[in-house]
Amino acid sequence: MFSMTVDRSLFTRAMARVPAPVTIATTVDASGGRWGFTGSSFSSLSLTPPLVLICLDKKASTHHAFVTAERFLVNVLAADQSDVALRFARSGVDRFADGDMETCEFGLPGLRDAAARVACALHDIVDGGDHSILIGRVEAIHTGDGVPLVYSDRSFGRPVPEATAVGAR
Ligand SMILES: Cc1cc2nc3c(=O)[nH]c(=O)nc-3n(C[C@H](O)[C@H](O)[C@H](O)COP(=O)(O)O)c2cc1C
Repeated sequence: MFSMTVDRSLFTRAMARVPAPVTIATTVDASGGRWGFTGSSFSSLSLTPPLVLICLDKKASTHHAFVTAERFLVNVLAADQSDVALRFARSGVDRFADGDMETCEFGLPGLRDAAARVACALHDIVDGGDHSILIGRVEAIHTGDGVPLVYSDRSFGRPVPEATAVGAR
């Protein structure tokens, strides 16, 4: 039944049906501190100029670092990197303690075996309710060979190959 007041659990259940990428966005603050979070809200936004977006909870411990950053790096995780996704979603731990993050594009922390890395300059911050929409102007790209990790129905998985190739836009 449709109602004007959308039920919160129905909304999250519906959105869980939308397959999403799994990324780790990272940045470095003015004193050299490293910050990162798991984000499935990553999306392409514009081709000319090349823009991407990722949404970050205003209450997240990483929010201040990202909204004041000059640049950030989005690591698109490969199918065998779900452990990294869980670690960078955990609160109150040193997410970088495992030592798997290397210095990548523009000195930002990144994963050598990511399915892709997209390095951005912070272009704009748009208000998105309880989240901030971080818009990045893409400045450097790396693509890897790994199959990307997918998040759907609250589980990690891998894309199921389909016979229909859509091709590049
Ligand atoms: C698969 C997955 C996807 C997530 N996507 C987002 C996201 O797009 N934006 C966001 O703000 N938090 C997202 N989170 C939650 C954050 O990773 C993190 O847990 C949250 O910001 C709380 O972190 P804090 O301890 O730094 O406050 C996601 C978590 C998981 C497990």
